[in-house]
Amino acid sequence: MQEKLKEIKEAALCELDKVSDVKSLNEVRVKYLGKMGLLTGLLRGMREVAAEERPKVGALVNEVREAIENALKAKEQAFAEASLNAKLKSEWVDVTLPGLSPVTGAANIIEKTVEEVEEVFMSMGYDVVDGPEVEEDYYNFELMNLPKGHPARDAQDTFYIEDEKILLRSHTSPVQARVMLAAGGKKPIRMICPGKTYRRDTDDATHSHQFNQIEGLLIDKNISLANLKATFDELFSKFFGEDCIVRFRPSYYQFTEPSVEVDVACFSCKGKGCPLCKNSGWLTICGAGMVHPNVLRNCGYDPKVWSGFAFGFGAERVTMLKYGISDLRKIYQIDLRETKVFDRRED
Ligand code: DAH
Repeated sequence: MQEKLKEIKEAALCELDKVSDVKSLNEVRVKYLGKMGLLTGLLRGMREVAAEERPKVGALVNEVREAIENALKAKEQAFAEASLNAKLKSEWVDVTLPGLSPVTGAANIIEKTVEEVEEVFMSMGYDVVDGPEVEEDYYNFELMNLPKGHPARDAQDTFYIEDEKILLRSHTSPVQARVMLAAGGKKPIRMICPGKTYRRDTDDATHSHQFNQIEGLLIDKNISLANLKATFDELFSKFFGEDCIVRFRPSYYQFTEPSVEVDVACFSCKGKGCPLCKNSGWLTICGAGMVHPNVLRNCGYDPKVWSGFAFGFGAERVTMLKYGISDLRKIYQIDLRETKVFDRRED
């Protein structure tokens, strides 16, 4: 019996030594320690061992079982360690390597201009509103003091959709009428409306059949051109820079009286004259004026009580001037390399 035990021990340890994977390790476990295993089988024969021998043999059985179990455990641990090491090796990542930054485009530069202008006006208590791009002639022209057949309509070559009633808005000014009518002639108004406008135009470096305007309207009591001037000083010093000089020039619009053209001193030559300002020293930015009494009346406001100013400028124009973009079409192209050039994000 003792001999047999020793043999089993040696055979088991020898087999375990050769085992190279978890599967065969389990086979060895079953072969020796399993219910039908060799060691278990031997134990059944204990009854035949003489009583005085039993403690000795029992101790030996325990020793053999322990030896086999220890060897199994050691092998198991070695396998677990090896598989962990292999995993660590195959999944190793050098966290100190610089990351791969994803290729991104940039927000369209017009969108940025609009956001910047909105910020300035919101800081002065203005609301930002929207209006329909498919508009009625009534709002686009009639309420704005441009009745049917008026020659000033010709200045805005318009896309008509349905007879002469429905059109693609040729400017954002109809939003003035919508906001005034919604306010019912009773409340002061401060609003800007950025949005797309449409005119029949041949697309080139400075023209497009679709472009963006930013309209503004302020209605209150005792409003004068001085308020308009202060508003532009604030807007352009924030948008173009502190030292921006603003001037008004008399002009004509059907919806304002008096009407002005708003210029800023040329940033390139500071007023001396250069190709950018066509030697005038000034860059024209915006049309504006005091809201015409007819427009106030048409939209439910009593011109004896209320007064106000309005303005409208092209988002593309101020963007091109600010960033020195010479071709309008670059702004509309969906070329990531181009949009990236205009990206002013700090990263
Ligand atoms: N709607 C004018 C245009 O498209 C721009 C404009 C001029 C808007 C004077 C105004 C304004 O509100 O008061 O040319």
